[in-house]
Amino acid sequence: MNICVFASGGGSNFKSILEARRDNFLNSDIRLLITNNSNCGAVHIAREFGVPVCHISRKVYPGLSDGEYAKLFLDKLVENEIDLIVLAGYMKIVEPEVVRKFSNRILNIHPALLPDFGGKGMYGINVHKAVIESGIKISGLTIHLIDEVYDRGRILFQKSVKVEDDDDEFSLQKKILHFEHKYYPFIIKKIEEGEIGLDE
Ligand code: GRF
Repeated sequence: MNICVFASGGGSNFKSILEARRDNFLNSDIRLLITNNSNCGAVHIAREFGVPVCHISRKVYPGLSDGEYAKLFLDKLVENEIDLIVLAGYMKIVEPEVVRKFSNRILNIHPALLPDFGGKGMYGINVHKAVIESGIKISGLTIHLIDEVYDRGRILFQKSVKVEDDDDEFSLQKKILHFEHKYYPFIIKKIEEGEIGLDE
């Protein structure tokens, strides 16, 4: 498969995917990084691994219609013959037209057990803070396909992680990230091998 990663932040999941490719655990080509933030950690990681970066943001392209804006993404995806989009800490909503054209071909990783602790505002450390404040004793991660609604779409994989009494949002984030780095490449491999079908 040809993969395009969308990321906005530190890029540690992006890096784990690139390392899995470098070590031949994955066979897919990581063809492109699309980011809305040209100075984020993911961009630096892309440079380190020689992955082309495409910066698309409303700030760079003001005044475009939704259709014109979506076309910026679609042109890059088509040009690079992308089969699968992997969201790895992408802070923007994927344009609905891109979601439609790449139906069942967009993966996301969420640092909690969806459908709990998902939806608007539930990103980054906010998720872990909400988990800690709820007093719940199990959190984890979810890898799922996205549709046009926040954090919805078919769940492909979940891994639970125990919340210890002395955990705070930062320690919980660290524990869950560790598993994200392991399981995101693992699930992509299962898709490559056809063990997980995207059109079921
Ligand atoms: C991860 O926790 C991921 O689950 C969420 O955003 C965070 C991205 O972290 N979607 P990083 O940029 O990969 O370090």
